[in-house]
Amino acid sequence: MAIKHFLQFADFTLDEYTYLIERAKIIKHKFKNYEPHHPLLDRTLVMVFEKNSTRTRLSFEAGMHQLGGAAIYLNTRDSQLGRGEPVEDAAQVMSRMCDVIMIRTFGQDIIERFAANSRVPVINGLTNEYHPCQVFADIFTFIEHRGSIAGKTVAWVGDANNMLYSWLQAAEVFGFHVNVATPAGYDIDPALVAPSNQRYSVFKDPADACEAAHLVTTDVWTSMGYEEEKAARLKAFDGWMVDAPKMQRAQADALFMHCLPAHRGEEVSAEVIDGPQSVVWDEAENRLHVQKALLEYLVLGKL
Ligand code: CP
Ligand code: NVA
Repeated sequence: MAIKHFLQFADFTLDEYTYLIERAKIIKHKFKNYEPHHPLLDRTLVMVFEKNSTRTRLSFEAGMHQLGGAAIYLNTRDSQLGRGEPVEDAAQVMSRMCDVIMIRTFGQDIIERFAANSRVPVINGLTNEYHPCQVFADIFTFIEHRGSIAGKTVAWVGDANNMLYSWLQAAEVFGFHVNVATPAGYDIDPALVAPSNQRYSVFKDPADACEAAHLVTTDVWTSMGYEEEKAARLKAFDGWMVDAPKMQRAQADALFMHCLPAHRGEEVSAEVIDGPQSVVWDEAENRLHVQKALLEYLVLGKL
């Protein structure tokens, strides 16, 4: 049987997400009630980090332990990956010693080459192009608060980055619309969007993108790996902070999301991120629950 990987949001169908959402609800309920759930007893997750992380590491590592398995953390600094061992060789070796692998790295091509040489499922824990685990947690969070996301409008205010490209894929799968506002020079790369995708509109003005949205979301102005562009980005993003006037253009009950870590006073005002419409802590927590469902599914299939 072909191994299933989760390298980008479009890798799963709506049926699979519907199943995973139901599993995540059950798994979350068990977690909240201290009910043991150990379907991955004696299984091992290897986590490879080539960029920093708090939430991704913690949610995968804690999640794997809670499922009865073990998680091993490797980073570029002190593994042979940092000394030029080919990705293909690393994949061959690692996948003979564990049951599932999560990678956070730079180019999507790296994780694809890794997966092509892996005997076990590979999960994208963030690349330059995509962050599918986060967007899955965000959609789960939206559904918990507001019900179905189909037919709704999500406003994206920020650069075209890994989060946006994953939101655009999710819009096609779940049938919602994304209003995209990116500053000039930081706009969508058509090569990263399926030509079939009709689920988004582009706006010049970030406030216009928020108009009547059910969810407003943003992200750091400088993603990991782009640090040398920080000064230029600070200039280009002047006026792009998600603040109360922009939220007022959205639906009265619109939610605010941010994958975190956040910079108050840059991409979002403190008033918004710490205000009543913000669900950022739920988003972060839900990484744990949806990824446990994902690990269970990739290792064991549908239960
Ligand atoms: N949102 C997210 O992926 O956070 P970390 O970078 O802390 O893992
Ligand atoms: N777009 C951000 C997300 C961090 C979780 C980055 O890639 O740094």
